[in-house]
Amino acid sequence: MTAADNELLTRVCGDAPMGRMMRQHWWVPAALSEKLLADGQPLRQRLFGQAYVAFRATDGQVGFFDEACPHRGASLALARNEDNALRCIYHGWKFSVQGVTLAVPTQPDNEAEYCKHVPLRHYPVREAAGVVWVWLGEGDQAPAFPEMEFTQLPPGHTVAFRQKVACNWLQGVETTMDSAHLGVLHQSAMQGSGDIALTSVNQAPVYQVDRKPYGFRYAAIRPLADGRSYVRANSFVMPWYGVIAPQQSTTRGGNMFFSVPIDDENIWYWHITYQLDQPVPPQAALNYTDPDNWPPGLPGGAEDNWGQNREQMKKGHFTGFAQSLGTEDFAVITSMGPIVDRTKEYLGAGDGAVVQVRRCLLGAVKEFMQGQTPQCADHAHIDYPSIRPLAATFEGEADWKSML
Ligand code: FES
Ligand SMILES: [Fe+2]
Repeated sequence: MTAADNELLTRVCGDAPMGRMMRQHWWVPAALSEKLLADGQPLRQRLFGQAYVAFRATDGQVGFFDEACPHRGASLALARNEDNALRCIYHGWKFSVQGVTLAVPTQPDNEAEYCKHVPLRHYPVREAAGVVWVWLGEGDQAPAFPEMEFTQLPPGHTVAFRQKVACNWLQGVETTMDSAHLGVLHQSAMQGSGDIALTSVNQAPVYQVDRKPYGFRYAAIRPLADGRSYVRANSFVMPWYGVIAPQQSTTRGGNMFFSVPIDDENIWYWHITYQLDQPVPPQAALNYTDPDNWPPGLPGGAEDNWGQNREQMKKGHFTGFAQSLGTEDFAVITSMGPIVDRTKEYLGAGDGAVVQVRRCLLGAVKEFMQGQTPQCADHAHIDYPSIRPLAATFEGEADWKSML
């Protein structure tokens, strides 16, 4: 990869084309629904290096504004949240959840007229699967919402949680799609998963990639000792979604992972686990206490190898990050540095999916830079509900495409 392509792929703040493309053509997962309480505290949101505030109004609707008050910039995270509106505590300007300026008490004359011209920036939101999505693009033509299988499920069938990780967003996406690391990095964590196919995993899967309008689907195929093959078929959905097979081959559902840029060097790493036929059982909700801080983040920094526990390793744990499988991912993607230098990589067959992710993203951002809507953002022509993961064991030659 050239240095220029690495910059193009990774930079998302300000005028950087990748960030502008993402904000314009996709809805951005921004907050956990459950954290926003009606008439409760407005919560600061940082996305693409910009400061926003989200709040739930009296009637349950979510409002999403720039954090800085359009008057003189006091934080609207300090605002009063009442009466279906935010009221800035500095001079009392009041903004409805729909983004209409309702009152400017510092303007006793012609207040109504003055209100019409207050440049409050507010953004459309959607709620699904316990997530507040926001559209941060320019103009008033929001893209279609990607109606994926998990966004249609009733409450209880999805569980959402996330963690802040100090690395560039693409490192997050790449680890999601990199099936080859499962049997290595996560081997100790997987041992308890009870899935024989996974725990006896061969460390070098063969990839089959299937390009799709939304990105691509791929199967990682691993021969098992008994002659059968174990197939995990996952999808990459532009610009940051990984649709990943459940650990148990018997579960109808899957996992969504997405890495949303806070800025160029920090992400929210989201995980939504979902089940089609039944609510997610409590044990699969992974016992988290704070869904905004799960799986456990890294217990240390670079100076102490992010808290890696060498005692655990001596006792048999492969990585020394026994907190969770997610913590193992966070350790390696953080250790690469905030933005890894992809000109220095040495890629091989196991990196097939990672290479495809980059191809999709580079292709799209180049279309965007020529003033086009990227093909993979032509939402009306993408069959989102059909995007499904698969984990299954096959006799002989794997006919995985017919199973999806
Ligand atoms: S800064 Fe918000 S009302 Fe003045
Ligand atoms: Fe991982």
